Amino acid sequence: MDRFIIHGGHRLRGDIVIGGAKNAALKLLVAGLLTSERLVLRNVPRIADITTMRRLLEQHGVTVEDIEGDGGTLAIGGNITNTVAPYDIVSQMRASILVLGPLLARCGEARVSLPGGCAIGTRPVDMHLKGLEALGAEISLEGGYINARAPRGLVGDRIVLPFASVGATENLLMASCLARGRTEIINAAREPEIADLVACLNSMGARITGSGSGTLTIEGVEALHGTTHSVMPDRIECGTYACAAAITGGELRLIGGRADHLGAVVRTLEEAGVEVFQEDDALRVRRTGALRGVDIMTEPYPGFPTDMQAQFMAMLSVAEGASMVTETIFENRFMHVPELNRMGARINVHGSSAIIRGVHSLSGAPVMATDLRASFSLILAGLAAHGETILSRVYHLDRGYEAVERKLAQCGAQIERVKD
Ligand code: UD1
Repeated sequence: MDRFIIHGGHRLRGDIVIGGAKNAALKLLVAGLLTSERLVLRNVPRIADITTMRRLLEQHGVTVEDIEGDGGTLAIGGNITNTVAPYDIVSQMRASILVLGPLLARCGEARVSLPGGCAIGTRPVDMHLKGLEALGAEISLEGGYINARAPRGLVGDRIVLPFASVGATENLLMASCLARGRTEIINAAREPEIADLVACLNSMGARITGSGSGTLTIEGVEALHGTTHSVMPDRIECGTYACAAAITGGELRLIGGRADHLGAVVRTLEEAGVEVFQEDDALRVRRTGALRGVDIMTEPYPGFPTDMQAQFMAMLSVAEGASMVTETIFENRFMHVPELNRMGARINVHGSSAIIRGVHSLSGAPVMATDLRASFSLILAGLAAHGETILSRVYHLDRGYEAVERKLAQCGAQIERVKD
């Protein structure tokens, strides 16, 4: 298991290229199951979760070709020969559940392992299943697997989601592209990654309207065809490096970064005393004055993203005054708090809220990554801390961030990966 050794106290300056969005690319790869023609995806991030998704798709029988040989352009094609998504892959990556809708729509059957809980919460899939039942699927649970059948195909319906779940919206969206008639998804999630998926599906011949509005209307078609699509830039990676500029009192140009995808994050950074400018093809982020405490509540898009909560918590731990961070999406997403406190932060958790009393400085310590975003909050703390931070269990980070040590080191960070 690799570790990072970080020597803090350096202001970051320079350019960082933002990669393709993990949470868009994973779903776009799955969309390849909806056609036997070739779906070519560009700007795919080179991260472990993409490798896992490739493995899952390949075991369904389709081919995933690395066209340029660098992992950045993938072509999905060929026929589905196996409709089972096995436990060993689904348990590694929850986004695997997204093959359920497409397999069912294409093949009339699917058997997908139940993902189970994960470190940040129980994360049930009830909305995915109820929505597919509304489209006519027969679903049963047996031996830890979801057995789904729709031998006569899926039929469009009106589905009201009780909560704007990202994954449920995407699963139902993909399934309904090939359902007979019209499907309406009410209270659909509005995350930009869903708009990216809609754009790709429409370019494959789907008929989807209402992208970004909270109501998606899908007119089912007989079949989808191949296309070429470029994955949107990763707004969470961009927001994360914005926090790196902020916590170190530096200035970074985040190439590919888009303020319109980061609305609530940009507003909160500004409130905390960080300057953010949209340039033609980049987001420039700098801090010259003191960081100020702010209150944050995570919400579905366009609210403040839960995937940015841990990184902001690290930043706010060295801000002037107090901050309150309330997590409303996942029930157990404060695992970074004890680790940040070991570095000198003063954070108390009360139920779903954390009170952060800003301290003057943090001190380096051995810390342990617990999940993807929490890992980066510890890197941020390490970049700002005096002395040496050793972050273990870096594999959590490798799931979703591309070339972290290279991107940070080229802007002046002292960070080194040590392989065990
Ligand atoms: C996606 C993102 C994740 C992000 C999250 C919220 C991917 C691969 N992952 O996860 O990074 O943090 O959106 O923005 O895109 N829920 C149910 N029943 C369901 C589905 C969800 O109760 O059937 C609950 C979940 O437990 C959670 C909340 O709804 O508490 C939000 O989950 P959801 O929006 O579905 O997140 P994911 O798609 O899993």
